[in-house]
Amino acid sequence: MSVRVPAKVNLQLSVGPIRDDGYHDLVNVFHAVSLFDEVTAAVGTASGGTGPEVAVEAAPGARVAVGGVPVDGDNLAVRAALIVADRLGADPRVTLRIRKAIPVAGGMAGGSADAAAALVACARLWDDPDEPRLCRDDLMEMGALLGSDVPFAVLGGTAIGVGRGERLTPALTRGTFHWVFATADGGLSTPAVYAECDRIREADGEPAGRPEVSEELMTALATGDAKALGAALANDLEPAALSLRPSLDRTIEAGRDYGAIGAVVSGSGPTCAFLADDAEHAAELAAGLDGAGVARSVVRATGPVPGATIC
Ligand code: C5P
Repeated sequence: MSVRVPAKVNLQLSVGPIRDDGYHDLVNVFHAVSLFDEVTAAVGTASGGTGPEVAVEAAPGARVAVGGVPVDGDNLAVRAALIVADRLGADPRVTLRIRKAIPVAGGMAGGSADAAAALVACARLWDDPDEPRLCRDDLMEMGALLGSDVPFAVLGGTAIGVGRGERLTPALTRGTFHWVFATADGGLSTPAVYAECDRIREADGEPAGRPEVSEELMTALATGDAKALGAALANDLEPAALSLRPSLDRTIEAGRDYGAIGAVVSGSGPTCAFLADDAEHAAELAAGLDGAGVARSVVRATGPVPGATIC
């Protein structure tokens, strides 16, 4: 059972005050792009252990450093398999093989994507095909237990997330947008970036306001206006990511120099996202960024695309 699952970029990430549970209230406009991990689930394990086993590798041709991905019970896909097994009363001995094209700790929700794919794959593996007990909404609810971004990786498309980002409403979009992503060497820790955001705000004496959905962004999406979308891209975590990784400034600048119509750090970074007018412009932009030597790798993708899908 193989499932393909997309990366996300945040078109708007507005971070409100920190809550009592340590999370921040967000307005998080997620957009799924055509950069995919693939998770294959097969019944049984090689070692004969009692739980899921996982193997992680880079997808063919992808320059992804997979060394930082846990291959034990901390792996989100393993935890996803256990949740599904528990819910369906299934034998949790399953082997998960993850082929990664989404950067690790890159701000594109790669770990969450793998968890979403494992939820979908294991549900298909263990659920009754004639009378399934788990629907997509159930899987999204289970995903929220694993991480704030997991429900969106199940859903895909473009969606507004509120709360911790896990309460989703699909957004109206028109057409296809063309993106270029510049990945970086080494990841950034999401909790560290949120903490840096809080620190900067406190130092500046600028407390967080209540996050609100950007009307400009929604109109740009609904009309398929790439230039307006580029102008509306906004990420409250960007100053924190730039503070922790100052070299990203050069990456963002290089993208602007090569004509990007929008440039933003993706989520908690360090991947930077650039919007192009069309496919041709994206190819030129990617070539320019590649030549500038400001990224580990430069990849093109389009969005929106569907969420975790059985291949
Ligand atoms: O939900 P998830 O495990 O992906 O979140 C990772 C970390 O990101 C959290 O531990 C928290 O530090 C931060 N976070 C946050 N507010 C959110 C979502 C994530 O502070 N709404």
